[in-house]
Amino acid sequence: MSVIALLGAQWGDEGKGHIADKLAGEASIVARYNGGDNAGHTITMGDTLVRTHLVPAGAFHPGATCVLGAGMVVNLRSLAREVDELNGHGANLTPDRLKIDVAAHLVLPGHVALDGVSEQRRGVGAIGTTRRGIGPTYTDKAARIGLRAGSIAEADTFAETVWAHVERANLNLRDLFEPELDADALSAEYAALAKRFAPHLSNVTALVHAALESGQTVLAEGAQGALLDLDHGTYPFVTSSSTITGGVLTGLGVGPRHVTRVIGVAKAFCSRVGAGPFPTELHGEMGDRLRGTGANPWDEFGSTTGRPRRTGWLDLVALKHAARINGLTELVLTKLDILTGIEPLHICTAYAHHGQSTTDFARDAAVLAECTPVYAELPGWTEDIGSARRLAALPRAAQEYIRQIETFTGIPVSHVSVGPDRSQIFAVT
Ligand code: GDP
Ligand code: IMO
Ligand code: MG
Repeated sequence: MSVIALLGAQWGDEGKGHIADKLAGEASIVARYNGGDNAGHTITMGDTLVRTHLVPAGAFHPGATCVLGAGMVVNLRSLAREVDELNGHGANLTPDRLKIDVAAHLVLPGHVALDGVSEQRRGVGAIGTTRRGIGPTYTDKAARIGLRAGSIAEADTFAETVWAHVERANLNLRDLFEPELDADALSAEYAALAKRFAPHLSNVTALVHAALESGQTVLAEGAQGALLDLDHGTYPFVTSSSTITGGVLTGLGVGPRHVTRVIGVAKAFCSRVGAGPFPTELHGEMGDRLRGTGANPWDEFGSTTGRPRRTGWLDLVALKHAARINGLTELVLTKLDILTGIEPLHICTAYAHHGQSTTDFARDAAVLAECTPVYAELPGWTEDIGSARRLAALPRAAQEYIRQIETFTGIPVSHVSVGPDRSQIFAVT
């Protein structure tokens, strides 16, 4: 029937996996459309916590087919590890349930090595990438020298191609006086991976359209977030893919008329992992408080790299930018429980730049770095809200916090999450 786009409205890690898992039950297909294993999406089901990196959140809904769309970059080595782990939790990701688009690009060992080396060489100017080879893989794709997933259909030819890819990467590594990769060992490893995953190859775009034509719902699960988008984020401190609604269209091969809901997931505060401007960043005690110590699984430490995330107050200027570039129809607010006990709360409602006030989000990283946030103060609350299951059960101050977000962005908050468990999300009716 339609595509529901669910995407990050900040700098990633907004709780997309948690929400996608909640909504996946309504969909016959759950699709990733961008990025690769730079993503780390957490799903908490009672005592079981799983992290997905490439596989969409439909994994734990037996009625949903999980698909990796053409806009993705797929590391088969990571995929093998992840599928084994998720199957260990009962996901049953057979070739019937997990499909890889033949047009998705492959992240190969040379891409991973070159990502690490170029980050190292950037020194203080480093982007702080996840070092998963994402940038170099999309670079090869745009240069039309990439390797697509369809090439694994023929394992022997694929092994030769991987060998040539590794030798090409070695030329670069040698020039940079970096250790070289073992082309023979890697081509043998990738031939085995090709045999394993060839049965998962599919024309995902055709599958998606067949589902839509038969009246079913497709959930598109975004990776990263709007402010990390290659075009509309804080370039160059961004990822190398289109993270926004436009990426859903190109990454799955669907038209805008199919997308009936565009859900932006936003935390009740902000976090960012990696370098780049972050106007509302907090240093010191309050930043530490929002981050947590790492003792809880939901504390702000990277799901993929374990790096501590930078934290700050909610930035409504940035959120409105995300709402505009995505055409959001609704917002889902996560981690509201983390604000319990903070008095007063701050929300950023404008930036000051060279003495001028603006509510436009500057995409030039240098300009954004010069912006200082203008805050509104709001009262906090002290009640434990983890068991709230409707808006009226939230303290008045928490309801007011939500209302301020809706008023500023012009987008209704459709769901609120008050804890990491599947059961701790409620619809705002
Ligand atoms: P994603 O990349 O957008 O899927 O987000 P991550 O999984 O990287 O990070 C979000 C973290 O917040 C995870 O540990 C989630 O389990 C956790 N989380 C999501 N929603 C809530 C919430 O409402 N409250 C709390 N305490 N944790 C949440
Ligand atoms: P999920 O899907 C948060 C960040 C990196 C770095 C920049 C570029 O879990 O929200 P890359 O490896 O993509 O070239 O790194 O993007 N980044 C993320 N930050 N969540 C993510 O994914 C991220 N994926 C990449 O930290 O700043
Ligand atoms: Mg994450």
